[in-house]
Amino acid sequence: IVMIFNGDSLHKFPSTRPRRLRLNRFLRNSVAETSLSTSNLIMPIFVTDSSSPQPINAMPGQFRWPLNEDLLKFVDELKSAGIHNVILFGVTGKKDPLASEATSKNGVVPRAIRLLKQSFGKELVIFADLCMCDYTDHGHCGVVKGSGEDYYIDNDTTLKIYGEIAVNYAEAGADVIAPSGMMDGQVKAIRDALDGDGYENVLIMSYSAKYASVFYGPFREAADSAPRFGDRRSYQMDPRNSFEALKEVAMDVGEGADIVMVKPAMPYLDVVRMVKDSFPQVPLAAYQVSGEYSMIKAAAGAGWIDEGRAVMESLTSIRRAGADLILTYFALDAARMLRNWD
Ligand code: PBG
Ligand code: ZN
Repeated sequence: IVMIFNGDSLHKFPSTRPRRLRLNRFLRNSVAETSLSTSNLIMPIFVTDSSSPQPINAMPGQFRWPLNEDLLKFVDELKSAGIHNVILFGVTGKKDPLASEATSKNGVVPRAIRLLKQSFGKELVIFADLCMCDYTDHGHCGVVKGSGEDYYIDNDTTLKIYGEIAVNYAEAGADVIAPSGMMDGQVKAIRDALDGDGYENVLIMSYSAKYASVFYGPFREAADSAPRFGDRRSYQMDPRNSFEALKEVAMDVGEGADIVMVKPAMPYLDVVRMVKDSFPQVPLAAYQVSGEYSMIKAAAGAGWIDEGRAVMESLTSIRRAGADLILTYFALDAARMLRNWD
């Protein structure tokens, strides 16, 4: 400050000119603080029993994939573009109170994992979302007890089922188990179950700070997983809280999570930053959720914003806030754009 105002340089004020570093793209690239690469990205994939890919209404450009050549071709495209991380979500009409489709060897997700591992082996890192809501007839993420107004989600019975699901997915070949149900103690329950069955090298990426968000709307259409009564506010986090996210993350780290997550991403970038600052030693993921995807798609579709630039700016911002990994439905598009991006 003193230098700027000294008498000598007053005639060429200002002598400090941040714009000099922005003069051309090579200079800008040289001093960029944030980078985005395909290895940071995880592509969510919906898998289902059908004979052809089914478009998802609320998520233009996204499909539910059948367990056949179509899925393999799509994953091959991802691989060629440099995306080696996928996270699987099962979509099924087979629903019951205890999510038996998720604990069954023949469930849609274990079959998808086997198919993908057969074709891609170690070239593909398979994350398996672990929750019950895709497979329960009531649509909640855990075991429902009580009735009517007095229903509640029973934490500890749910943990037992999560342990079974984790082992089922690990046995099929999942590399990373990703519990998204926000039950207390879910990471330890899953770690114990995995270790007990000899899967000590299977990772856990916990949805640690998952908020009760309206931005999951399009996903629930895609996965047919909306709660049939009530809502998820007794287990997912209250959007008004951020310090509580540190408690959730601290618990998960203590219970053995290898990667923690904040979800959604863009409305919660302050939380991403807080978690990164408080736990710099723990890999952090952020989930750019379905609603974030669909908002960009809708605005771009209407001609109101440039889709490609919105995708790159939003992903860069999530990285800048402190996320190491990003789950995003734009993973393939971003990978292709990264090839000749500034
Ligand atoms: C299920 C689950 C949800 C998402 C990921 N896993 C939905 C929910 O909690 O209702 C949301 C993903 C998205 O919106 O893209 N536990
Ligand atoms: Zn769930």
